[in-house]
Amino acid sequence: MAVLIFLCQRCIQLLALPIFVLSFLGLWDPMCKKVFPYVMNKLARSYNVKLHKEKQQLFSNLKDFAGSSGQLSLLEIGSGTGANFQFYPSGCRVTCTDPNPNFKDFLAKSMAENQHLQFENFVVAPAEDLRLVSDGSVDVVVCTLVLCSVSNVTTVLKEVLRILKPGGAFFFMEHVASPRSSWKYFWQQVFDPTWKYLADGCSLTRETWKDLDKANFSEVKLQHINAPLNWTLVRPHIFGYAVK
Ligand SMILES: C[S@@+](CC[C@H](N)C(=O)[O-])C[C@H]1O[C@@H](n2cnc3c(N)ncnc32)[C@H](O)[C@@H]1O
Ligand SMILES: *[C@@H]1O[C@H](CO)[C@@H](O)[C@H](O)[C@H]1NC(C)=O
Ligand SMILES: *[C@@H]1O[C@H](CO)[C@@H](O)[C@H](O)[C@H]1NC(C)=O
Ligand SMILES: *[C@@H]1O[C@H](CO)[C@@H](O)[C@H](O)[C@H]1NC(C)=O
Repeated sequence: MAVLIFLCQRCIQLLALPIFVLSFLGLWDPMCKKVFPYVMNKLARSYNVKLHKEKQQLFSNLKDFAGSSGQLSLLEIGSGTGANFQFYPSGCRVTCTDPNPNFKDFLAKSMAENQHLQFENFVVAPAEDLRLVSDGSVDVVVCTLVLCSVSNVTTVLKEVLRILKPGGAFFFMEHVASPRSSWKYFWQQVFDPTWKYLADGCSLTRETWKDLDKANFSEVKLQHINAPLNWTLVRPHIFGYAVK
């Protein structure tokens, strides 16, 4: 099986050869970082329609984690175009972080459309290193479709735990690997190396629920669903929250 996967991977990569050449020349990544916000702006809209019910269900739990003042301080990692703002409760204080500064205009537009929130800051930083955010300082951390792209999930979850207040929660909705015995997992592995280039570092094969279980949260509440998306390889999803 491993040999078959290897051969199929090379075939797909051969078809995508121009991309790998551009990448080798150092041209692909900067182009990708510029174009991706436009692509994400389109995709996030359609994603929000298709997963509206699940996002609503997930984020309806946010207010349970507000501090004693009743106001919720929320930090979003990989905030992208700000597709989750509409689901946050009124008065919520929001800090956004993303390593790609090219999202800024889209983010500003989403902020303007969501006057029910109080925006604090947009920090350009990867979630592996949030040193600008102090320990135990936020009620809630949110990420959607981000753990597939970060370079180290374990490091990110450590950072999340560091910045959360005791009793605070990490909310997530992520596409994940299909069960190992499935054909879908076979195809996810075959497309993974090429997909990474096309989708700004996104991996199709992460078993993110395992990282969450190992991350030393006091409680992890999650469910596996098959999201009704166009691309079958990103349909397996987990969503839920983990309490510090
Ligand atoms: C698929 S987009 C999702 C954007 C947004 N969260 C949404 O749900 O529409 C992935 C996002 O993760 C960001 N990202 C990539 N690597 C990251 C990292 N190491 N830390 C934090 N965010 C990262 C990308 O810049 C991009 O905004
Ligand atoms: C998904 O497919 C439908 C119908 O074919 C199409 O209208 C829609 O734009 C597609 N969405 C995305 C994100 O590609
Ligand atoms: C992630 O970082 C940890 C240290 O925090 C390291 O042990 C682990 O090997 C890294 N994982 C990957 C996939 O690089
Ligand atoms: C979880 O906590 C244990 C015991 O304190 C520690 O050894 C381990 O490294 C922690 N795991 C992570 C992923 O931080």
